[in-house]
Amino acid sequence: MEVVASAPAKVILLGEHFVVYGEPAIVLAIDKRAYAKISKREDKKLHIRSANLNLSGYFEDGSFKIEQGEAKEARMKFDPVKNAVESVLQKREEKVGLNVEINSTVPVGAGLGSSAAVVAATTAATAELLEVKLSKEEIFRIAFEAEKIVHGTPSGIDPAISTFGGTLLFQMDTGFKALDAKTQIPLVVGDTGVQRSTRVQVEKVRSLVDKYPRIAEAMMKMAREIVLRAIEALKEDDLETLGTLMNMNQALLCGLGVSEESLEWLTSAGRKAGALGAKLTGAGGGGCMIALTQEERIQQVMEAIQRAGGRAFLARKTDEGVRIESA
Ligand code: MEV
Repeated sequence: MEVVASAPAKVILLGEHFVVYGEPAIVLAIDKRAYAKISKREDKKLHIRSANLNLSGYFEDGSFKIEQGEAKEARMKFDPVKNAVESVLQKREEKVGLNVEINSTVPVGAGLGSSAAVVAATTAATAELLEVKLSKEEIFRIAFEAEKIVHGTPSGIDPAISTFGGTLLFQMDTGFKALDAKTQIPLVVGDTGVQRSTRVQVEKVRSLVDKYPRIAEAMMKMAREIVLRAIEALKEDDLETLGTLMNMNQALLCGLGVSEESLEWLTSAGRKAGALGAKLTGAGGGGCMIALTQEERIQQVMEAIQRAGGRAFLARKTDEGVRIESA
């Protein structure tokens, strides 16, 4: 028997990095998903294979053996998956060996939450296969703990959106709240192709905040006001205001030192081609940017981003969080 589960990628519309310090952020699940297929093994190994990353290997008695790809990279990608599987296994008495096969359409290390989507899908599929009943809240908790291994001190925004889907207002102390977003929020995503680590970007911001606490506090307040105003704009279907707020947010992110040359090129190309607003999304330092674009300008904005060296695609929001595809 095998079980397949999937979970969506995300784009942060507003508030990344500031969210790590308790400020609110707005995040949408998008129509790119990660899939995890789980089956039982005869032995006690945990075998993991990522088709799109060309990596495979297995964990046995506390050690890891690489089969395909580079061991260090495989450990970085597989450790959170292992952690999530073990959290589900702990809820059962017996120890079983498992095969985990990951297939994902989400670009990796690009700010779209690929690792959280993989971990949420793996958690749900493992629980279903082993007949462990998990609520979405529990899946989120397990995925969040697993994410901490790779991302250091994450806010939890990535596992939250991959688990629950939709459009969420997320804040660390109060959790998440579904947002009333009438509008389609048409977003062109531009991938710079520059891979970077969320952990490194979050640490970079931490040292800036520690060095200039009073300035950082003022920036936090601005980021908060931007998100609060955006909640109104979403309710009113006011895309123009939303675009302006995204540009303001980009300026703050730039001030935090997490924008980077390729992101600046793509955001500027998107705006020039008629986007209402553009900013980096996720951890920055490379990865992806988003451009809020009226339907009639989408083609134009996509072409401009491609010409500026990015890989552009249209992201549609999705309401569906983690789900079982087949069992
Ligand atoms: C990463 O998708 C978003 C960050 O704010 C980190 C986090 O919230 O965990 C950069």
